Amino acid sequence: MSKILITGAGGGLGTSLRKSVASWADSVRLSDVTDITDCAPNEEFVACPLGDKDAVQALVDGVDGIVHLGGMSIEDTFETILDSNLRGTYHIFEAARKAGKPRIMFASSNHAIGFHTRDTELNGDSPFRPDSLYGLSKCYGELLARYYYDKFGVESVSVRIGSCFPEPVDRRMLATWLSPTDFDSMIQAIFSAPRTGAAMIYGVSDNLETWWNNDHARFLGWKPRD
Ligand code: NAI
Repeated sequence: MSKILITGAGGGLGTSLRKSVASWADSVRLSDVTDITDCAPNEEFVACPLGDKDAVQALVDGVDGIVHLGGMSIEDTFETILDSNLRGTYHIFEAARKAGKPRIMFASSNHAIGFHTRDTELNGDSPFRPDSLYGLSKCYGELLARYYYDKFGVESVSVRIGSCFPEPVDRRMLATWLSPTDFDSMIQAIFSAPRTGAAMIYGVSDNLETWWNNDHARFLGWKPRD
């Protein structure tokens, strides 16, 4: 895999992930609305607001894979979510369709299924139960991924990320924790798999208390180690 784009590269996940991606990709295009000034020799920075369709097209042109982390990462007003998450994610998929169909990793969220109760084991067939406008925007992104594969053949993996931080800080986060190291290996697996279709995987480490079952996504070859 030669050139990988990371949107939201200046955020928490992007900042930790980019070191790993730069170690296996030939080159990495980092993007955000805030400047990144510490690029490694095989990294470049391109500022891009995701709500700007033409700018997103230029951003996506020439890449072989996209890690789409950019957008509003917590609950906010509808207008903010509309621009960053709904328009922005649409722009990414539409640009990919026009630019040779690079595979897309879409950062979905546990908030897409946040109104299931914890005594329900969730798997690849569990229905959406968004718990916020933010969670609803992640359901939309996953459905965009499904549509762009079924209609246009754009491959993707939507990752319902639990809590990806250096360490869990409370019991809920212990059950939903995705270690940064496991996130790194998951991203590499997503771009190494021979094919993905429009897959969905729960972004969670091997936690004793998890209620998310990833058996349906074993074909990706990803095994959490933490
Ligand atoms: P973050 O908030 O630290 O980073 C998001 C980045 O997106 C920021 O750098 C921000 O400047 C950029 N961004 C926001 N709106 C934008 C726009 N309109 N145009 C261009 N860039 C824009 O979030 P974090 O924690 O790094 O999460 C990354 C992704 O993963 C997000 O999509 C989030 O929803 C998702 N996620 C993260 C989880 C976690 O545990 N960190 C849990 C579940 C989902």
